[in-house]
Amino acid sequence: MKPTILLTGKTGQLGSELNRLLPKLGQVIAPELTDLDLSKPEQILQVMRDTRPQLIVNAAAYTAVDAAETDQVNALAVNAEAPRLLALEAKKLGATLVHYSTDYVFDGSKKAPYVETDLPNPLNAYGRTKLAGEQAIRASGANHLIFRTSWVYATHGRNFLLTILRLATEREELKIVADQVGAPSCALDLAEATTKIVAGMIADDKSQFAFPEASGTYHMTAAGQTSWYEFANAILEEARRAPQNLPWRASATKGRPLIARRLVPISTEEFRSPAPRPANSVLSNARLKQVFGVALPDWRTQLQNCFSPERAPVNPSAALSSR
Ligand SMILES: NC(=O)c1ccc[n+]([C@@H]2O[C@H](COP(=O)([O-])OP(=O)(O)OC[C@H]3O[C@@H](n4cnc5c(N)ncnc54)[C@H](OP(=O)(O)O)[C@@H]3O)[C@@H](O)[C@H]2O)c1
Repeated sequence: MKPTILLTGKTGQLGSELNRLLPKLGQVIAPELTDLDLSKPEQILQVMRDTRPQLIVNAAAYTAVDAAETDQVNALAVNAEAPRLLALEAKKLGATLVHYSTDYVFDGSKKAPYVETDLPNPLNAYGRTKLAGEQAIRASGANHLIFRTSWVYATHGRNFLLTILRLATEREELKIVADQVGAPSCALDLAEATTKIVAGMIADDKSQFAFPEASGTYHMTAAGQTSWYEFANAILEEARRAPQNLPWRASATKGRPLIARRLVPISTEEFRSPAPRPANSVLSNARLKQVFGVALPDWRTQLQNCFSPERAPVNPSAALSSR
């Protein structure tokens, strides 16, 4: 018998990649939003008690960073209260919770990559709710792996890659923030790294997951660092080089040509957004490498891979129809 894995957020950037990869390791149960709405505690308890998973992979989150400023009740319910309940139920079942958190738990004032033991100090409501989720998981006493990642993108969903491609078909000049640095991380690489780590937890008889001695918090991002401005430049460079007929790219640009000629670097000050963002979002991945032997490719390679026909991007509708 394969172990049971409960996956949340199967429609998201990361969740849809996990929904393709995790079935190699166990029987994946990935409920619809109508059956598992994380803002409804009674549904969380019901699903956990009905499915009795050995592993919970929580890829769902309230990720609308600006909206969270004025919608803190919902953001808190999904990002803090739901992980707390998942962890408490996991503890009762002796299960392990894999959860994702964010670079936005830090204030960005450090002049070097953040390590796991650095003091969090979120600048915005989203970061505060994600930090509360982390703290609740740690306090539950459940076996857990919290992977903090950053600047996530995929070939579907709402993200910087697709926004830049769309804007580049609409405007000749794009103004992009140049004084925030981070590591753009492709959802597929994050899902692959997670799957590799989870595979290492499978017991010899393949019927269950072993207790991860390495329970704790880890940074998991692309290697290297860049600014939004450099990332936008790289996206357009890759897009000009890549085949025009990649399905995800054609859908992002609606088949229109790229007309952007000039990218103008601007400051955070000039680009006002409801939620403040940290200037430095770079996370050190040294602990992930040391404990699990896992290192993600650098951000530029991950971006190039997205534009490569060989590295098939996820087809969300195929992923959804699989369960
Ligand atoms: N995106 C980033 O740049 C970024 C950066 C750092 C860390 N992270 C973290 O990485 C993880 C994955 O993020 P992502 O970018 O893959 O997120 P995403 O693409 O926004 O997907 C979020 C998923 O959560 C689901 N969801 C939202 N509210 C829900 C609710 N009330 N009940 C059940 N499901 C709900 C969404 O369902 P619907 O599709 O139905 O809305 C979607 O499947 C999250 O923990 C996030 O905080 C993300």
